[in-house]
Amino acid sequence: MKLFRKKSMEFMARQTSGDRGLKKALGAFDLTMLGVGAVIGTGIFVMTGVVAALYSGPAIILSFIFSGLACAFAALCYSEFSSMIPSSGSAYTYSYTVFGELIAWILGWDLILEYGLACSVVASGWSAYFQALIHGFGWQLPHAISSSFNPAQGTYFDGMAAVILLVLALILISGTKESARINNIVVLVKIGVILLFLAVGVFYVRPSNWTPFMPFGFSGVIKGAATAFLAYIGFDAVSSASEEVRNPQRDMPIGILSSLGICMVLYISVSIVLTGMVPYRQLNVGDPVAFALQVIHQNWVAGFVSLGAILGITTVLFVMMYGQTRLFFAISRDGLLPQPIAQLVGRAKTPIVAIGLTWLMATIFSGLIPLDKLAELTNIGTLFAFIMVALGVYILRIKRPDLDRKFKVPFIHVVPFLAILSCGYLMIHLSGITWGFFLIWLIVGLVIYFSYSYWHSLVGLSDKKKEATES
Ligand code: ALA
Repeated sequence: MKLFRKKSMEFMARQTSGDRGLKKALGAFDLTMLGVGAVIGTGIFVMTGVVAALYSGPAIILSFIFSGLACAFAALCYSEFSSMIPSSGSAYTYSYTVFGELIAWILGWDLILEYGLACSVVASGWSAYFQALIHGFGWQLPHAISSSFNPAQGTYFDGMAAVILLVLALILISGTKESARINNIVVLVKIGVILLFLAVGVFYVRPSNWTPFMPFGFSGVIKGAATAFLAYIGFDAVSSASEEVRNPQRDMPIGILSSLGICMVLYISVSIVLTGMVPYRQLNVGDPVAFALQVIHQNWVAGFVSLGAILGITTVLFVMMYGQTRLFFAISRDGLLPQPIAQLVGRAKTPIVAIGLTWLMATIFSGLIPLDKLAELTNIGTLFAFIMVALGVYILRIKRPDLDRKFKVPFIHVVPFLAILSCGYLMIHLSGITWGFFLIWLIVGLVIYFSYSYWHSLVGLSDKKKEATES
């Protein structure tokens, strides 16, 4: 069996050329907005408080710096790859050219888990925020459809999660340029409410709240970093758009690095102000940012921030869904999943079946399964992908130094290894149950690969054809 057959650069160019590729509609600004849209959501509006209260204390600032650095090293590697291989599918596609099909499949399957779970978790969070907001106006959904399946509590399905997922799926079907335009507006609103929080909150900071700075010690800071890592997830989704970018060699690195940079600055600023405003012990609430504003009696500002949070979480969900559809598209186009999934439909040339599948998967997960405990799984999947990308960039630099790279990782013998070490370090701080689920998911993926994907792979079929003509 040829488990490590590789996709050549030429094969990829054929796949994305002419009518077969996705429409090229995005520029550097759209990409940066896409990244910020994907990154800032649950992380800043929910996790800052939870992580500070349970793991890091005011040293959450250090947790965010640590996980941000791990992401920055990985982001440099993503940038080199995406400037070199402008094809949909992100880390999956990169590893197809470097490590071969089996590893690419494992990574693709791993990313389906990452995006699928992230969509579900974020949709559930959106639903909770939305219900809290309408509750303020005296409205309430029927209890049975207010949350995920939990008969003991009398809830059977998360109706609002399904609704928001459907709305976003319809927007995605309307086309990428249109979707990006809507995304840009919402992202600006989101940044606006965060700046509003900082501008108001900074006047209520009491430095005494920052002591003790590290109440749970250094291990708390690292556990906090491994948990808060979810907050940075999303900049990698930018790379899944590279096939739709007008000038990917120039714009992809700008999009990836600037969106991560903006988010790091905002995260660190928010955690400094938040832990300065309210003692960290009080922050274990679902809406810590709005809560801190209520503590200082700025209820109007808190209302604006809550509304901004709902919008903010919407864009996270949008980009996660976008990433998932492009991943399904790329994997099916290669024949590793049934090809009709990759079919482009309509004038906007959108992969409708892939979008439908994404919607279905996220709706089932978020509607029926309480996913809060599985959030760590999203982290483990992403960290694994980052490690593979860093390794891949290094190997390709050694094996194919001739390839045209518009962006190069600086200090190539150092940076990829810093990415591998820092992401690996965070991975080992995740729980045993998470590792168990992760391994089960990978085993299911291998079963699918050997029973279907291997036999339908286009790279495999084209290799076979070549062999037949040669003999
Ligand atoms: N980074 C995304 C968020 O914070 C997943 O919501």
